[in-house]
Amino acid sequence: MQVPSTTVYPNTWPPQLKDGLRTPPSYKEGGLTIQPILQSGDSSFGAEIQGVDWSRPVSGEVVQQLISLQDKFAVLVFRDTGLDDERHIAFTQQLGRDLEINPFFYGRENDRVGNPYLWDVSNINIDGTTVQPGSRRWHHSRGNALWHTDSSFHRPRAKYSLLLSHGAPARGGSWTHFADTRRAYNDLADERKAELDDLVIEHDLWHSRRLGAPDAFNNVEQPSITARHRLVQEAPDGRKTLYIAAHAKSVVGWDQTESEKLICDLIDHCTAPEYVFSLEWLGGGDLVWWDNRQCMHRANPYTTGMTARDVRRATVNDDGPLAYGVVPKGEAEGDE
Ligand code: OGA
Ligand code: MN
Repeated sequence: MQVPSTTVYPNTWPPQLKDGLRTPPSYKEGGLTIQPILQSGDSSFGAEIQGVDWSRPVSGEVVQQLISLQDKFAVLVFRDTGLDDERHIAFTQQLGRDLEINPFFYGRENDRVGNPYLWDVSNINIDGTTVQPGSRRWHHSRGNALWHTDSSFHRPRAKYSLLLSHGAPARGGSWTHFADTRRAYNDLADERKAELDDLVIEHDLWHSRRLGAPDAFNNVEQPSITARHRLVQEAPDGRKTLYIAAHAKSVVGWDQTESEKLICDLIDHCTAPEYVFSLEWLGGGDLVWWDNRQCMHRANPYTTGMTARDVRRATVNDDGPLAYGVVPKGEAEGDE
């Protein structure tokens, strides 16, 4: 199976440089200024938002306004928020019922951030050194450089992710890429849409880890962490979207080769340049909030010369009707 992380995507920040397109005009709404990032017809993807007062708890009214913007744009970027861990978590808690608990992959005592609501997505070891090739953490991070949605293998799955930067990353070196799975679905041919409509996909954490770092994870027994979800879903604004990720291991009922081909083709389609923008991290305090139900994202792969990049993620569990996906027969609550 071809590993999608080998694809080189142009880094396109600021967005007006993308493909010679002009920046869509910004507009004001209440106290906020909204700068859309990618626009095609009436479809918008990504927006940079100014005007939130991060120095105090965000009011319920602004939270509601931001959630409607999130439903429309799928990815919201805020610069220079000045948030710390505690206020990062407090804001995230305003956006949903439960936050995802970090399973502390390397043991709580080995977790640099040490807060169960935060995932340390940095490239920094607990002793402050930069992660080196060959370490477990390096291998694990390889999966993050594949196009994915967060925790599609968890029950419940993740709804929102909020990634906050601490400290200034090296300019030009730190990017996160986002792909619009709503527009990608919309652009499929009608016959293709009809083929996809009823498919169910099994997502498995270890599938993406193996794709990212086969030498480290192939042939290593891991307890499987899986969930099944319909491939075609409805985004918050009512449009259809593809729910897919590097964690997508198979199409339920299909053989493995056919499954992998379809999944790869769809990820390739969704991540064509017209559906993608790349966010450059400019400084500590930058925050990006995305909706895992209606976009994919990926990190840049680690490199040997990389500089320290301290980013931490808080994640809101989905509490909607699709959170647990399609529960296999026999596993539903109450089944004997
Ligand atoms: C994540 C993630 C991308 C990055 O935090 O879920 O995929 O660029 N991060 O660090
Ligand atoms: Mn992620």
